[in-house]
Amino acid sequence: MHMATTVPAERELEVTDTRTGKTYTISITEDTIPASFFAQMGLSLYDNGYLNTAVCKSTISYIDGDRGILRYRGYNIEELAEHSSFIEVSYLLIYGELPTRQQLATWNARIMRHTFVHENMLEYMKSFRYDAHPMGMLVSAVAAMSTFHPEASTDLHGDQIYQDHKMINKQIFRLIGKIPTLAAIAYRHRIGRPYVYPNQELDFTGNFLFMMDRLSETTYTPNPALVRALDVIFILHADHELNCSTAAVRQLGSTGIDPYVSIAGATAALYGPSHGGANEAALKMLEEIGSVENIPAFIEQVKAKKRKLMGFGHRVYKFYDPRAKLMRKTAEEVFKIMGRNPIIDVAIELERIALSDEYFIKRNLYPNVDFYSGIIYKSMGFPTDFFPVLFAIARTTGWLAHWREQLLQGTPIFRPAQAYNGEEAREYVKMEDRVNVGVSSMGGVKATTRANPRKL
Ligand SMILES: CC(C)(COP(=O)(O)OP(=O)(O)OC[C@H]1O[C@@H](n2cnc3c(N)ncnc32)[C@H](O)[C@@H]1OP(=O)(O)O)[C@@H](O)C(=O)NCCC(=O)NCCS
Repeated sequence: MHMATTVPAERELEVTDTRTGKTYTISITEDTIPASFFAQMGLSLYDNGYLNTAVCKSTISYIDGDRGILRYRGYNIEELAEHSSFIEVSYLLIYGELPTRQQLATWNARIMRHTFVHENMLEYMKSFRYDAHPMGMLVSAVAAMSTFHPEASTDLHGDQIYQDHKMINKQIFRLIGKIPTLAAIAYRHRIGRPYVYPNQELDFTGNFLFMMDRLSETTYTPNPALVRALDVIFILHADHELNCSTAAVRQLGSTGIDPYVSIAGATAALYGPSHGGANEAALKMLEEIGSVENIPAFIEQVKAKKRKLMGFGHRVYKFYDPRAKLMRKTAEEVFKIMGRNPIIDVAIELERIALSDEYFIKRNLYPNVDFYSGIIYKSMGFPTDFFPVLFAIARTTGWLAHWREQLLQGTPIFRPAQAYNGEEAREYVKMEDRVNVGVSSMGGVKATTRANPRKL
């Protein structure tokens, strides 16, 4: 959804209902018209998948997909990636302004103090099977946090507890602080290594890599260039207006539930391959292509619609995704330390060929953020099923920015409409009168039952 940053002059839309001949005037505000207007005509707006429906007003991030622009609170993503740290950008997203030196120090200290998790949480994490998917562990652990912090429960204490800014902030510190710890635990659990306690002397991203990789070294410090590269990647993933998982935060938040359960729901949405898993698909595709000489044959398959070019195309961007450019640059920084991953040459050549091919030009297909991120993660040694976990760490701040914004705005409970196109009212059929008219009894092509016509 593209919304102008400034409120445009009020304009109007005239709609004539050809069923009645009546003409209605609808006012346009901020490039939107109120959907409720159509109720008086007995109509709802059918929008399967929310392709063009604004469900809230927000001041957090702005995307102009036709021009390849992404801004957080008005600041271009390129400048934030170059000059800011992830923790600073998190403050910006949540509170709306870049922090002063003093504000940043306080914010950072609060978050780092909340990186420790309750010892019972470690036992909880230990109870997962040795090969548990890290996203499954993370979703469950974040939901379980709700039981570790009962004072944050609106069920126990009523939703007025979040009229207090201190209460809102406390949950924000905890979630941003603890999610990297839970993520690192999920990783260590899988590889059978002891969990590592946080190191508050490091910065946010440095501490995360410390918890992932430290063995017995007393003074283990992650490589600063890798810390910076991952920090930039976190900045690029921190928010992206009302994507599926952020919409889940608002959907769940509209019920008044505590933020742990809402963020667990958002993490679950991110688990889906169409959302947080596309970078893995892009990496697999590049590995399958294998070398530059196989690209033309692959492109032909894509043009024949036998394959999809993963990491290309975007629902919103119809131009180069600005994050993809920054990702490509970050990949080069990582290779300087980890060695060049030859798959990058396949990616660069694939991009070059696709961007000069009529098929892709005509359809506005450009690389998206996922085209290069998988290569970077792989080069840094993260397992592929951990990629969405990295995404979740970064996106937690965007989710929380929306949670807070929604609390301050107030919201009705989200209750989308449906267009019912099922059976008309029918008479109940007793068991002895039913016959199977379907191909199989459950889940088949058609598996309904109807009354035995002979008995009717
Ligand atoms: C992201 C995505 C779902 C957006 O889809 P969309 O905006 O609904 O675009 P459409 O599906 O309407 O596609 C428009 C046209 O481009 C083609 N197209 C879109 N993405 C394509 C891709 N990645 N490779 C090849 N062709 C693609 C479609 O086949 C369609 O062609 P047609 O007009 O001949 O039918 C889609 O581009 C995609 O699946 N990309 C690959 C997965 C990916 O990288 N996802 C991560 C997004 S951050």
